[in-house]
Amino acid sequence: MAGQPVSNATVGRAQSGDTLGAERAAPAKLAAQAEEELASKLRERATLTPEFWSFSGRSRREAGHGIFAYPAMMVPQLQGALLEDVQAVDPAISSVIDPFMGSGTVMLESVSRGLSFSGADINPLAVLLATVKSQAYNPEQLSRVRQRIILRITEDSGDKIEVDFHNRDKWFRSDVARDLSRLKRAISAERSKVMRQAFWVAMAETIRLVSNSRTSTVKLHSYPAHEIDARQIDAIETFLRISASQIEQMKDQAEALSEGLRKNPDLRIDCRVGDARSMPAKKDRAAADVLMTSPPYGDNVTTVTYGQHSYLPLQWIDSADVPGMRQELLENTRSIDSISLGGKLKGAVDWADELQVKSSAFAHCFDQLKSHPRNAQSRFVGFVHDLDQALEAITAQLRSNAWMFWTLGERKISGIPVPTVAVVRDLLAFRGARHIETLERKIPGGSKRMAFRNASVETMNTESILVMRGRSYTDLDSRS
Ligand SMILES: C[S@@+](CC[C@H](N)C(=O)[O-])C[C@H]1O[C@@H](n2cnc3c(N)ncnc32)[C@H](O)[C@@H]1O
Repeated sequence: MAGQPVSNATVGRAQSGDTLGAERAAPAKLAAQAEEELASKLRERATLTPEFWSFSGRSRREAGHGIFAYPAMMVPQLQGALLEDVQAVDPAISSVIDPFMGSGTVMLESVSRGLSFSGADINPLAVLLATVKSQAYNPEQLSRVRQRIILRITEDSGDKIEVDFHNRDKWFRSDVARDLSRLKRAISAERSKVMRQAFWVAMAETIRLVSNSRTSTVKLHSYPAHEIDARQIDAIETFLRISASQIEQMKDQAEALSEGLRKNPDLRIDCRVGDARSMPAKKDRAAADVLMTSPPYGDNVTTVTYGQHSYLPLQWIDSADVPGMRQELLENTRSIDSISLGGKLKGAVDWADELQVKSSAFAHCFDQLKSHPRNAQSRFVGFVHDLDQALEAITAQLRSNAWMFWTLGERKISGIPVPTVAVVRDLLAFRGARHIETLERKIPGGSKRMAFRNASVETMNTESILVMRGRSYTDLDSRS
């Protein structure tokens, strides 16, 4: 499989539609039995290993999961355990979707278990990461390309800085910008796009480490001038170290993907840029069996700024190699975050009436926020409104009786806890979904890369996995 991708272009037909029958038209009793079976499997894990769902101290990022420090990444082992439990209960499942795909944690865990995957994210950098993680790269070929890149850098004594954007000199020292330019030229000269993409990811991680923005937060936050001058950083050295360790990880990644192909030769992977609020509805034959996802905790601007975190790397990577990249996404540091869930607040409070009908948890929290500034109300309502729109579009992607795993975080706005888990549960129940189990996990200190606190918004150190089952479609109300 020399450097061959396993994603969309080269693989066979998806299987999801072929698992039509079994429980789809099955009596409610059968469905309820499977749900009870899954619930008891999940509980049993915690009985055998207390704190199992917290995964404290056991979260390792291997097999490609560690190639870039994307914010708020899921714990791969945890999602893998959930997939194994649902496969045990419903062996016919063959496809998974993740509409908030991020760096592709669910993608790699699904595919390595022989499950086809379809995912999207609004942030093109996330889609580049997931795309690279979906390829079975040949490590020897990667090493040869790396050698060629090193040779080009060594022979390149040019001083030209290849990128120009607002505040470039605030975020990069001139020696660093010159080295990154040599690196950019050396990667761009590589003929294969799939190979270039792998090394753009190594460059993205390099940029995260050598820019003048602190690595301790996902927001752009500059070091003070005296620290910038004193920092011992070398962009080329950093790239060499990161690309070498990336090649090591990609050996395991190729192995995981091959394992998936052995289990399911028709495996299909599709990672693309897309807005979860406007995914086109799927006809039954293409609908997914499992939804496994983790939406943002709240609006990106005040919680986790995925877009801001991606802004500097995206300035340097050739945009033709980044799936779905558009220049306007780099207009300013907030452009991506402002088109993400909860990014638009104007008139948001007007949506409250409609949401109160769908969710009593929403109504209760909105009531509490009434005595707080209007901006706090808008942030809450704007986010839930967008999430609700996304749920409408996402549930139209699922087969009858689909399994759902939602990893959700809670936060506070103006000191008021926002009950995201209860709100999502209500909004899904409104669409006919049934609750199976809610698993709680403590986030071990510092193990998840989040935004730092600000005055009015706080993220919390627990998250929940809401396990639900989508509505059952009978022949009469089938969507096909
Ligand atoms: C919690 S992160 C997902 C992390 C991912 N599970 C991982 O392990 O890397 C949430 C993702 O939702 C994306 N997002 C925000 N608004 C979106 C939208 N409207 N449509 C699709 N993705 C969106 C963000 O860019 C971010 O990558």
